[in-house]
Amino acid sequence: MDESTRKAAKRRASKRAVETVTDGDMVGLGSGSTAEHAIRLLGQKVADGLDIIGVPTSFQAREVATEVGIELTTLEETEGRLDVAIDGADQFAGSDLIKGGGAAHAREKIVDGAAEELVIVVDPTKRADVLDAAIPVEILPDARRTAADAIHDLDGEPILRRAERKSGPVVTDNGNLIFDCDFGEITDPAALASALSVLPGVVENGLCLDFADVVYLGTETGVERIEP
Ligand code: A5P
Repeated sequence: MDESTRKAAKRRASKRAVETVTDGDMVGLGSGSTAEHAIRLLGQKVADGLDIIGVPTSFQAREVATEVGIELTTLEETEGRLDVAIDGADQFAGSDLIKGGGAAHAREKIVDGAAEELVIVVDPTKRADVLDAAIPVEILPDARRTAADAIHDLDGEPILRRAERKSGPVVTDNGNLIFDCDFGEITDPAALASALSVLPGVVENGLCLDFADVVYLGTETGVERIEP
């Protein structure tokens, strides 16, 4: 699938997803290129009179939402609850996701997890029978060496994510580092998520298990609705 076809598929999926948002909703606003389409489409609906309040999952989401005129608030203000969240994924298998390609998974998990309905928007490259993409793991900078050793002990291959157009590593919105960790086929994602989450210095891993309520998968010609 070439880039422009893929972009059109992402946009198609997002268009379907924003149709689920209704007047008065408190909406989690996801991160990444597919979620950005959704935020921009929501902005158009807001300009046409849709009354929503958004909670962004990242600096990027906040920036785009502000640009398109979506009123924003915090989970504090919404008492930790949202009606719906729309977000992308790096890979999905049923309702299990890998997130964090944009290094925003720590906040995404908080915001998406607070939504009554999590709507995932993807293109066909994201679908898998068994998750096998590298898992982004956010770590405190002080844990760079020890967390890498521990991830090796779990049979993972941690690669420190490097920044583009900046010397050195990617630094997350929370001031931390990211290891992209290749574990091959992840046959027991729950066990791996637990093992990663107890490592000292690990802030959050990109495995989001039993997370998606509905997936809109944009294709070359339409949108597939998957209810895992
Ligand atoms: C951000 O950290 C991610 O979880 C994104 O939602 C994910 O990487 C999908 O991004 P794209 O829609 O750009 O592929």
